[in-house]
Amino acid sequence: MAKHRILFVCLGNICRSPMAEGVFRRVAEDAGMLHLFEIDSAGMGDWHKGEAPDHRAQKAALSRGVDISGQAARKVELEDFDDFDLVLAMDGSNIEDLYDIAPHAARAKIRRFLDYAPHVGTQDVPDPYYGGAEGFDNALDLIEAAAQGLLAELTKETERDA
Ligand code: 4NP
Repeated sequence: MAKHRILFVCLGNICRSPMAEGVFRRVAEDAGMLHLFEIDSAGMGDWHKGEAPDHRAQKAALSRGVDISGQAARKVELEDFDDFDLVLAMDGSNIEDLYDIAPHAARAKIRRFLDYAPHVGTQDVPDPYYGGAEGFDNALDLIEAAAQGLLAELTKETERDA
């Protein structure tokens, strides 16, 4: 069966999208479904290319049992629109930036991550980079909700297509 290939995208790829990658990996693993997915993350900018996630993101994720220390930041590349089935943006600005660079045929792959958590009452995972630790916890609350919603949605699709 073809894997679902999912790319999580934020601005710098050192805070939100690495946490989303790590949390979704964990949620899929806990459900025994990790083998169904290819998961990665990337940023719109390359300021932090090759760096591990921000230490505050690492700490906040680890406090929920998710180790993201092994990730390395990279920029979104044109090939990503071929290599992934879903490109999930953390906020509206990421969406606009992705639409600007995506081939027209790939636009349908771009979604807001929080579309998978309509009950949380916001569409954006706020950028925690310039704030304190509570911003990272808030981002993780939103990310965990959307990761559960995403897994539920893709599980339904997989069962429908089986
Ligand atoms: P992220 O946060 O998009 O959640 O990774 C940011 C990290 C770095 C920068 C901006 C946002 N920066 O401008 O360096």
